Amino acid sequence: MDIRVFETDAEVAAAVAGRVAEAIRARPTLVLGLAAGGTPVATYAELRARFAAGQVDFSHVTTFNIDEFAGIEPSHPGSFRQFMQVHFFSGVNIDPHRIHFLDGSAADLEVECDRYEKAIENAGGIDLQLLGIGTNGHIGFNEPGPALVARTHRVRLHAITRRENAALFSGDVSRVPREALTMGVGTIFRARAIAVVATGQRKAAAVARAVLGPITTHVPASLLQLHGRVELYLDRAAASRL
Ligand code: GLP
Repeated sequence: MDIRVFETDAEVAAAVAGRVAEAIRARPTLVLGLAAGGTPVATYAELRARFAAGQVDFSHVTTFNIDEFAGIEPSHPGSFRQFMQVHFFSGVNIDPHRIHFLDGSAADLEVECDRYEKAIENAGGIDLQLLGIGTNGHIGFNEPGPALVARTHRVRLHAITRRENAALFSGDVSRVPREALTMGVGTIFRARAIAVVATGQRKAAAVARAVLGPITTHVPASLLQLHGRVELYLDRAAASRL
């Protein structure tokens, strides 16, 4: 893994935004995989600023977000779709038709997962996937366990994951959906390059297990050791156990 350690969260955001902007300059039709969560918020702010300064043009970029809660509408304020709207899409010129999202309110969630796999395939696959790591080592919503699923699928969220996402639901964990849809590890691994972003002391243990630990489904992020093109963007705190 190509590990890059920065002093601060802001420096991490600048580096990741620079990586994305460079990829778009090299390939204006970039297919970009995105992640919700607190970690990439600073990166998205940095990308919005670069767009406002005329430094990057998203008009031909296609995006696929990695996961979404099940059982809520895309318009629900707690949905990742709304999160992305607020933190990123509203501030850049991505064509709304090129924004792809799992719909957790679809009538048949299995059909919805299949639709998403095909949409990624039809777009030519993901060129660059931005990825966060859960404190329990999850990637997307692929939770630790005895087995992992390769394709986009429906998952039951672990209690810790629901607690960590409570802020999206006014801090009330009982309102966080119990299930979600997520790209599978196979879907994520088909991305031609993966940029993992982790900041803060609370991610240090998961980062260490992902980078140094044995490859195990109990730490889904450890599988990243098998992908040939993973870049890890860390601040000092997240890198402190390496
Ligand atoms: C969340 C999301 C992931 C995210 C990860 C880390 O539960 N499913 O897409 O990357 O966990 O989140 P955060 O950046 O808020 O720590």
